[in-house]
Amino acid sequence: MHEAITLETLDFLLSERGAAVLATLKPDDLHDRAILSTLTRLRRTCSPQEAAAAMTLARLRLRGRAKFSRADVMFFTEEALQQASGETISRYRARRYAAFGRVADLGCGIGGDTIGLAAASHEVIAVDRDLLRARLARANVRVLGLGERVHVVCADLRQQPWGTDAAFIDPSRRVEGRRVFSVYEMEPPLADILALRRWMPHMGVKVHPGVEDLGLPSDCEVEFISENGTCKEAVLWFGDLSTGVPRRATLLPGGHTLAWEEVEPVPVGPPGAYLYEPDPAVIRAHVVEHLAWQIGAHKLDEEIAYLTGDRAVQTPFARCYPIWEALPFNLKELNRRLRALGVGSVIVKKRGSAVDPEAFRRRLKTVPGGRPAVVILTQAADRPIMLICGEAL
Ligand SMILES: C[S@@+](CC[C@H](N)C(=O)[O-])C[C@H]1O[C@@H](n2cnc3c(N)ncnc32)[C@H](O)[C@@H]1O
Repeated sequence: MHEAITLETLDFLLSERGAAVLATLKPDDLHDRAILSTLTRLRRTCSPQEAAAAMTLARLRLRGRAKFSRADVMFFTEEALQQASGETISRYRARRYAAFGRVADLGCGIGGDTIGLAAASHEVIAVDRDLLRARLARANVRVLGLGERVHVVCADLRQQPWGTDAAFIDPSRRVEGRRVFSVYEMEPPLADILALRRWMPHMGVKVHPGVEDLGLPSDCEVEFISENGTCKEAVLWFGDLSTGVPRRATLLPGGHTLAWEEVEPVPVGPPGAYLYEPDPAVIRAHVVEHLAWQIGAHKLDEEIAYLTGDRAVQTPFARCYPIWEALPFNLKELNRRLRALGVGSVIVKKRGSAVDPEAFRRRLKTVPGGRPAVVILTQAADRPIMLICGEAL
């Protein structure tokens, strides 16, 4: 799709005239059904390109609210907003840099991480080779009152030492329009980033949360960060930015964190009164067993990351569901039990089952106006089972 926000239209958006046009755009003007009339109105004072850019930015500002508390004054392109780190995560990460006055933010995009670092009082050298993004980053730090602490440079981040020994690097994981998952395919690839350690030994590198262990350097801490129950990213921490553990799961916005440590194997046993569904960051960081010991739970199956126990323990690291019934997998029997339990609506979850949860849910027979339930399809001791549970406590 043709990008409405370009170097030329950004000049307009940053001008007084652009600001005045943007100020006239209200959320109702931006609905699909209102687009034509809004564009017609804007065309009285703007060129077609300016009108399209103003509409696009106003819509991106609305969308940007999910990531930035001050999105309504910021500047984005569609893809750069998608790639930007949100405020909660970038502020959390910035705390690791407390010992460093000056930090390089390499591959700064529209400045999501630059803002987090500068807001934590760091002096930031923000680098991006894309001129439009570098200009968007500059505009964003200015409009947020952080301009004095940030120096934005348009260059290849590999080009030179950046005058600081600490850096945050967020490589592109979208290359030629396609998502890449491997650290070797990122742009720039991990090998190029690791070479920068010669100048900047203290580095945080943001990578895909599904990153494979294989091929990751052994001298870094890998932190899996989730926000509101979704694992958003993994960060490789090098040098003094590492806390010295191999892996860690951190849950935002609370900041609860669980570091990997050697623990005894967790026993496997039958379903108890409660089922625990660990946060995805806990699973990715391989700290499920540590969590099991912490909450006094056991595993349902050697291979499956569900825990179970007879006590409901409050933990930020897992959701806890009361188990009403645990049965061998059988659709007919499930429908019979759902009706007997007066269940009116069902959420289906699965782990270690080939079933498509949404298609399966449509085959369930519930009682109109009945109570909500959660059906969990999984396996115990290698056999498929179904757990009929209440909603998470
Ligand atoms: C995932 S985005 C960064 C998002 C940013 N951290 C934020 O929160 O807005 C990656 C950025 O790296 C930049 N980039 C990729 N390779 C680069 C290189 N060799 N030198 C400089 N910038 C590069 C891209 O232009 C892109 O803006």
